[in-house]
Amino acid sequence: MQIVGIDIGFGFTKACNGREFMVFKSIFGEASEIQYREQLTTAPATDDYLHIETDGKAYFVGELAERQSNVRSFTLDQDQLIGTFAKTMALAALSRLVDRGEPVRVVSGLPISYYRRHRDTLNGILVGKHAIARFDAAGKREEMTLNVTHARIIPQPFGSLFDGMLGNSAEVADKRFVQEKIGIVDVGFRTCDYSIADRTRYSERGSRTTDNGISRAFTLIAAHLRDVTGVNVELYRLYDAVARGSIKIRGRNIDLKPIKEQAFGKLAASIASEAERLWADDWDIDLIVVTGGGGSVLAPYLKPLLQGEVVAAETGVDTRLANVRGYWKYGMHLWSRETRAAAPRS
Ligand SMILES: Nc1ncnc2c1ncn2[C@@H]1O[C@H](COP(=O)(O)OP(=O)(O)OP(=O)(O)O)[C@@H](O)[C@H]1O
Ligand SMILES: [Mg+2]
Repeated sequence: MQIVGIDIGFGFTKACNGREFMVFKSIFGEASEIQYREQLTTAPATDDYLHIETDGKAYFVGELAERQSNVRSFTLDQDQLIGTFAKTMALAALSRLVDRGEPVRVVSGLPISYYRRHRDTLNGILVGKHAIARFDAAGKREEMTLNVTHARIIPQPFGSLFDGMLGNSAEVADKRFVQEKIGIVDVGFRTCDYSIADRTRYSERGSRTTDNGISRAFTLIAAHLRDVTGVNVELYRLYDAVARGSIKIRGRNIDLKPIKEQAFGKLAASIASEAERLWADDWDIDLIVVTGGGGSVLAPYLKPLLQGEVVAAETGVDTRLANVRGYWKYGMHLWSRETRAAAPRS
C-alpha cells in the first residue's frame, strides 16, 4: 500500500509519496503529435514530460501543455478546478508516483470556504480504479490501472499545520503545534486561506478563504505590461519573470522591479489587514505561520505588518510544498499503523 499526498492548486499541482516530490503547473491541453523529439542541445532532459491518456483522451499536463498544446486550459474558478482539472491533475501525478499494481491511499485538500461543498465530489473523483495510459518522453505508451482505495480530504492550510507538527515518521515532532493556538496564512496563486488550530482543534470563526492570492499582484503587473507593450501576457507565464525581476517582450527588456514592489506591497497590506479583521477576537494566538508558495515570496513584505510571533520560510525555501508534505505525513499518521497491524507477521 502506498500513501500519496496531492495538493491541486490554481497555480501548481504538488504531489508527494514520501520519497519524491512533483510540482507542475495546473494546466492541461490536448496531446499533439510531436514531430521532432530530440533536444536541441545536450542539456539534461527535464523530467517534466507529463503525457497521459484517460477516458479515451490523451492530454499533455503542466509545462508540457504550456509548451506544446495548441489549446490549453488554465482556470481561476473553483468549480472548474474540481470539475474539469482535479481528475487529470491527480492522475498525472499518480501515474508518476505510484508503483504499478499497488493500492494507493490519497490525502488531498480544499480551500476552507469550499471544503464542505466539494469534499464529497473530490473524494468521489479520487477513489476508484482508474485505467490510464502513460507515455514517456520517447512516445512509448504503457497502460496501467491506478487503484485508489481510500481518500481523505482536509482543509488545505492544515497541510502546513501537520507539516510543522509531525516529523518524517509521522510522530509528533513539535509540541507547540499540539499545545498552542496557531494561526495559518496560506498564500496561494489565487486564494489566501486563513485558519486557526487551537490545540489542534479547527476554529470556524478564524478560518476563511479570500481572493488575495499572488495572481492579484500578477494582474497588476500584467496590466502594466499591456500598457507598455500592448501584449497580453497570461498570468501563468509570469512566474519566472517576476522572480527574476525582468521580462523580455518582442525583443525589449522590461524592468519589473518597481511594479513588483508596488504590487506585492499592496497585496501584503491587504492580507495583513484581512488577518487583523478576521482574527480581531483571537488576540491570544501564540504563533502565526505564513505558508504556501506565495507565503515565501510575500514574507519580506508581510512579516513586518503582522502582529505577534510569525514564522515564515526564509527566501529560497520552496513553501509550495509545505501543504502536500503535511498531507503525506497525515496519511502516514492515519494509515501506517493500521496497515502495519494488518500486514502478515514474518
Ligand atoms: N520556485 C517557484 N516557482 C514558481 N512559483 C513560486 C516558486 N516559489 C514560490 N512561488 C510562488 O508560489 C506561488 C504559488 O503558490 P502555491 O503553489 O502555494 O499556489 P497554489 O496552491 O497553486 O494556489 P491556490 O492555493 O490559490 O490554489 C506562485 O504564485 C509564486 O509566487
Ligand atoms: Mg494552495
